[in-house]
Amino acid sequence: MSTVRIEVRAEHDYDVVIGRDLLDAVPGLIGEDADRVLVLHPEALAPRAYALRDALVAHGYEPHLLVLPDAEDAKTAEVAATCWGVLGRAAFSRRDVVLGLGGGATTDLAGFVAATWLRGVRVVQVPTTLLAMVDAAVGGKTGINTAEGKNLVGAFHSPVGVLCDLDLLTTLPAADLRAGMAEVVKCGFIADPRILELVEADPAAAVDSSGAVLAELVERAVAVKARVVGEDLREASLREILNYGHTLGHAIEHAEGYRWRHGVAVAVGMVFVAELARGAGRLSADDVARHRRILTSLGLPVTYRGDRWPALLEAMRRDKKTRHHTLRFVVLDGIGHPGRLEGPAPDLLAAAYSAISR
Ligand SMILES: NC(=O)c1ccc[n+]([C@@H]2O[C@H](COP(=O)([O-])OP(=O)(O)OC[C@H]3O[C@@H](n4cnc5c(N)ncnc54)[C@H](O)[C@@H]3O)[C@@H](O)[C@H]2O)c1
Repeated sequence: MSTVRIEVRAEHDYDVVIGRDLLDAVPGLIGEDADRVLVLHPEALAPRAYALRDALVAHGYEPHLLVLPDAEDAKTAEVAATCWGVLGRAAFSRRDVVLGLGGGATTDLAGFVAATWLRGVRVVQVPTTLLAMVDAAVGGKTGINTAEGKNLVGAFHSPVGVLCDLDLLTTLPAADLRAGMAEVVKCGFIADPRILELVEADPAAAVDSSGAVLAELVERAVAVKARVVGEDLREASLREILNYGHTLGHAIEHAEGYRWRHGVAVAVGMVFVAELARGAGRLSADDVARHRRILTSLGLPVTYRGDRWPALLEAMRRDKKTRHHTLRFVVLDGIGHPGRLEGPAPDLLAAAYSAISR
């Protein structure tokens, strides 16, 4: 495949580069004035990190590699402090660079470390999960968790470049690929119906990490995210549409003690808001059925436990995006036309939930 560049407008503009066999392109994203590069990665990516180290040395940089605890265990104040220690001992200056090589947990932590070291140094993101490629690594939101909740501490800090090497996805477990596909499909529902057509034409090809269909899906989903964050960097309004399916999705993640993958919970959340929009007379029954068909074809769930409604409602009311206890949802007025639904009546909410409960 040819390499594609998608420009993101932010406090400084940057490119998301999408292609295959791209690790050699990383030095080009770093900038010539940097000397040192701190590469943060989980153990699973160690072979790739070594290859990257060799490429960085060949281009005259001084790489430092640090293995992070896996997944969410990386997103803690303790791990950030360990990174600051490495940066301090290696005398990283304002010109030097942090690089996140991993899934969304790694890119969130790497971005946060870069945002805070010397009040902000450059970060290059090399996402290695589908979710991180189409969502976490693009857009500049960085953060860590605290004992009180997920992503409560963080900063907006855009990367200087994002490199999506689709070859990295070949080692990703199928369950992670499916979960990431929920965010891809979300971009289809809110902004790019061609994504939905591609999945409908051949769902198996959509999750084949070596195929051309997945490549086009990543390009299209990144283009949607780039367009939305380019117009609303700090989540004032338009960026909210990216939360399609996330209000109930977050509540389900909470109810499951964060053992469900994010995308899997969002899949159920999208069917719920589709039902909500149908109940409010804004979305057709055919479009709701399309949600169920597409998500099911990708092996994603479209129902949830009927006995959990009171707990989920309570969790949605506590969500940090809820304002003055009024529930707000991104809904569709037809495919590709997101709108907002504020304070829906309790019976409308309950009816939508009963349509997805089992
Ligand atoms: N900043 C944002 O805008 C944003 C958006 C969405 C999600 N997020 C964050 O992203 C995180 C979830 O990201 P995720 O789903 O990528 O999870 P993750 O980073 O935890 O990665 C999932 C697992 O896959 C492994 N892995 C990663 N790449 C691999 C590869 N190529 N081959 C084999 N194994 C690989 C990881 O080691 C980990 O065990 C959450 O912390 C979430 O809050 C952030």
